[in-house]
Order: sequence, then C-alpha cells, then structure tokens
Amino acid sequence: ESLPVFQVKVNEWTSEKYFDVLGMKIPVFVAPNPKLLSDVISNFQTRAEDVFVVTYPKSGTIWMQETIWQIYNNGENTSKNIFERVPFLEFSTSPILGEFADIAKVPSPRLMKSHLSYSIIPKGSSDGAKCKYIYIARNPKDVAVSYFHFTVSLASFGNGYNGPWEIFPMLYCISLTVGWNKWNDHVLGWWKHKDDPNVLFLKYEDLKKDLPSQVRLTANFLNKPLSEDIINRITEQCSFNGMTKDLSRYMVHVNESQTSILRKGVVGDWKNSFTPELNERFEKEVLSKIEGTRLEFDFEL
Ligand code: A3P
Repeated sequence: ESLPVFQVKVNEWTSEKYFDVLGMKIPVFVAPNPKLLSDVISNFQTRAEDVFVVTYPKSGTIWMQETIWQIYNNGENTSKNIFERVPFLEFSTSPILGEFADIAKVPSPRLMKSHLSYSIIPKGSSDGAKCKYIYIARNPKDVAVSYFHFTVSLASFGNGYNGPWEIFPMLYCISLTVGWNKWNDHVLGWWKHKDDPNVLFLKYEDLKKDLPSQVRLTANFLNKPLSEDIINRITEQCSFNGMTKDLSRYMVHVNESQTSILRKGVVGDWKNSFTPELNERFEKEVLSKIEGTRLEFDFEL
C-alpha cells in the first residue's frame, strides 16, 4: 500500500491527502493511483483534434467546458453531465468515473478538462500531432473564496478543508497546501505560452464582461466559426442563469455525496470575505508575484 506523499494536517479541522504526480500535488480522491495517472500523462498520445480546457481550480473550468461542448454541437443544450461530455484527465484513473476511464479510446474530437501545469500537460504524440489548449485565468482573490467554499463542501466526505476562512487564503497562496500547487506558478507557466498558436489564454472576468465576444473568439480559435444566431444561443445557455437552470449537469459526485460547482458566479465576491489585513497580505505575497509580467486582472466589475 503506498501512502500519500503529502498529508496536510493543518489542525483539528482538516486532514487533506495528496499524491505527488510528476511534481504536482493532486488530491488522493482525484487520483487514488498516482503511478497510473503519471503513466497516463507521460504516455498520452495527443491528436491534432484534441482540445484541453485548462485552469487552476475554481477559475471557470466548467463554464468553458460547457461553452466548447456547445460550440462543437452548434448550440445544442443537453441534460447530460458535463464530465461525461468533457472528461477530466486527472480524474480518468479514478474508479469513481470508471465508465469513461480510458480517454485513449474516446473518438475525436476529444474535449477534455485538466488542471495540469504547462510543464507536464500532454503535448506530444508519436506522429507529432499538436493539440489545442484553452486556458482560463481568474483573479486570485475570487479564486481563493471560491476554492474555500468548494473545499468546505468536499469536507463532508472526508477530502476537504473544514477550518475557518481566515487561515484558508494563506494555505492556498503561501504554504502550498492545496491541490495543483501554487496559483501564481500555475498561471504564469501558462501565461508564458499565451502567444503560442495552439494556446488561447482567456480570463474569467472577460467572459463576465462580454461573453458573446469571448465565445466568438473561442469558436474561431477552434476553427468552428458560428453564425450570430448560434453565438447568441450559446451565450444565453452558458450565462450563469442559463447554466443554473439544470444544475444536475454540473454536480460532482464522490461516493454518496455530491456538490454543485456553480455557486455565485460573480466578480468581486472576495470583498465579502477579505479583511483589510488579509487584503494587504494577499497583495504583498500573491499579487506581487505577477508584477512586471503584464498579466492583469479586474477585481470588480
Ligand atoms: P464561485 O464559487 O465564485 O461562484 P471551476 O469550474 O473552475 O471549478 O470554477 C467554478 C467557479 O466558476 C464558481 O465560482 C462558479 O460559480 C463559476 N461559474 C461556473 N459557471 C459560470 C457561469 N456560467 N458564469 C459565471 N460563473 C460561473
């Protein structure tokens, strides 16, 4: 029996377990067999038609998963669960999702989700086929709040954090105790590749500001130009209200429990939770890391 490489015991509230997979901390419930996941990633044969939606968790992954699925399906709206339509690469080795475990067998075009860093995401194949990556970045204060609520909801089935909000943002940004490593390393790793022809770097806040233009940009990047009618339909169906009409599509099921990924869907929710002291620390310890990179975020709209 292999034991988790990291076991984070912050205090009496939490005991989160992670495996180290190719240098990334991945929660044990996502990848119960780290050797298998590491092999899947290392041997992954990309195809030219593959599309990965990539994010640091809580940055709008499901939003873009739904959007690209609708782009490929001409604005169709379906009640099928999103993880069956756009599977999660790291989760693919978990027996929980056994029925679509073998992504290698999925016919093209494969639409997939991943939280992997640029350095380890599958990039190659024996015939040199390149695939496409759509990266979504979100302002880290809202990411921290969204991550907190999500991980608290996971705690009820033993894989989350059950402590107070006050210490959570510090774990997340400084002590490296959440999955997929640090926000700033993740975002900057992808930001360096924003001009690569097979990378589209988008921001959550821009999706909120002008969804139709971001849908159009994404469709063109995917070589799927759409009529304005279909763009309008996708925009309506992929707005927060459109998506919350049928939440069962976006439920994460783990064992007997389930939690919805859609919560508030706004820019600036951090203001309801950040104290002035926390804000100051966050500016100093997280935002200073992206200074000078020309990567900027809206913190309110
Ligand atoms: P909040 O917790 O701030 O509401 P991910 O899919 O990467 O886990 O990201 C989840 C976050 O994206 C949640 O943020 C969720 O509400 C938000 N989200 C999902 N769909 C959205 C949509 N259509 N419009 C706006 N926000 C959306």
